[in-house]
Amino acid sequence: MSVPVLTFFNNRGGVGKTSLVYHVSWMLEGMGRTVVAVDLDAQANLTAAFLDEDRLESLWEEDGGATTVHRAILPLTRVGDILPPRVERIADQLHLVPGDVALATFEDTLSGAWADSLGEDPYRAFRILSAFWQVAQMAAEEVSAELILVDVGPNLGAINRSAIIASDYVVIPLGADLFSLQGLKNLGPKLNEWRRGWRKRLDNWSASHAEPPLPLPEGGMAPLGYVVQQHGVRLSRPVKAYDRWVNRMPAVYHEAVLESTTTAAAPAQDPECLATLKHYRSLVPMGQEARKPIFRLTSADGAIGGHGQAVQDAYRDYRILTETLLARMEAAERRRRASA
Ligand SMILES: Nc1ncnc2c1ncn2[C@@H]1O[C@H](COP(=O)(O)OP(=O)(O)OP(=O)(O)O)[C@@H](O)[C@H]1O
Ligand SMILES: [Mg+2]
Repeated sequence: MSVPVLTFFNNRGGVGKTSLVYHVSWMLEGMGRTVVAVDLDAQANLTAAFLDEDRLESLWEEDGGATTVHRAILPLTRVGDILPPRVERIADQLHLVPGDVALATFEDTLSGAWADSLGEDPYRAFRILSAFWQVAQMAAEEVSAELILVDVGPNLGAINRSAIIASDYVVIPLGADLFSLQGLKNLGPKLNEWRRGWRKRLDNWSASHAEPPLPLPEGGMAPLGYVVQQHGVRLSRPVKAYDRWVNRMPAVYHEAVLESTTTAAAPAQDPECLATLKHYRSLVPMGQEARKPIFRLTSADGAIGGHGQAVQDAYRDYRILTETLLARMEAAERRRRASA
């Protein structure tokens, strides 16, 4: 049995993907779950949130070991095979497969493998296309994790395609603006195209080999819903200016991602809206400085006065979101089993 993979995905930058992976990972850890976070963004922002610069430098400079996701898969670009990644312990039940700016160089290898996986002898192409999934599964097995959380960069390239086909579940963070709404119109069809493309490759291969000779991701990619993030909203603008875009999100999400329709006139009425997260203001730099999730800030970190209440509010928001995500994943898994 493979460990479930949950990816936060949007090709729009700055909508809060990394921040969500970071905070939901810490919340799960606090709830007693064992988690591996995997940084598949060549910007490596998630890695920088978890680790200080000295540690980062030593991981990136170290010779030999598979200290980052890129180093674990690098042998595939030559004649070698995937190396077990060195898993970084963040807390007893929270672990990280560090990202790497060099990951961007893997894009061409993945593009080639996508085409080759439909060819005569697809073994190596499948090995390459599923490399992120293999690495994440090795890491999860090593630390007995029950869930893998993945952060990706803001694009629709081959790296993200491989990250998404490795995903059992996908959450889409959205900014409260026109760009997110427009982006969603492309994002939904892309997700569905990738799911169908992977399914076609799996079917093609199993038609010629009774059982593919390596474990592969099923490519479920079940959309769990969207999170509306208000931190990008300019405060000087009247509420109406962004309500206009936000209230169109349910219809666009249902059409572009679920290929269905909805009567919800606003995210608050839409069960697919997992949460609306407010702008956490000064808690955010405080959390970055203290290298902590904002809901664990204390007075020693500077969260005094009204900030104390804001920390409690943030705790409640992330706790509800995380519980909703767990419930959604369980429900999706029950549906999957029932239809299998
Ligand atoms: N709820 C929030 N309140 C305040 N600031 C936030 C909130 N969520 C995210 N931010 C801040 O907004 C910025 C962008 O967020 P983040 O890096 O998580 O986005 P992203 O989607 O991962 O971006 P990229 O596409 O570049 O990877 C960061 O500086 C982050 O700290
Ligand atoms: Mg990011």
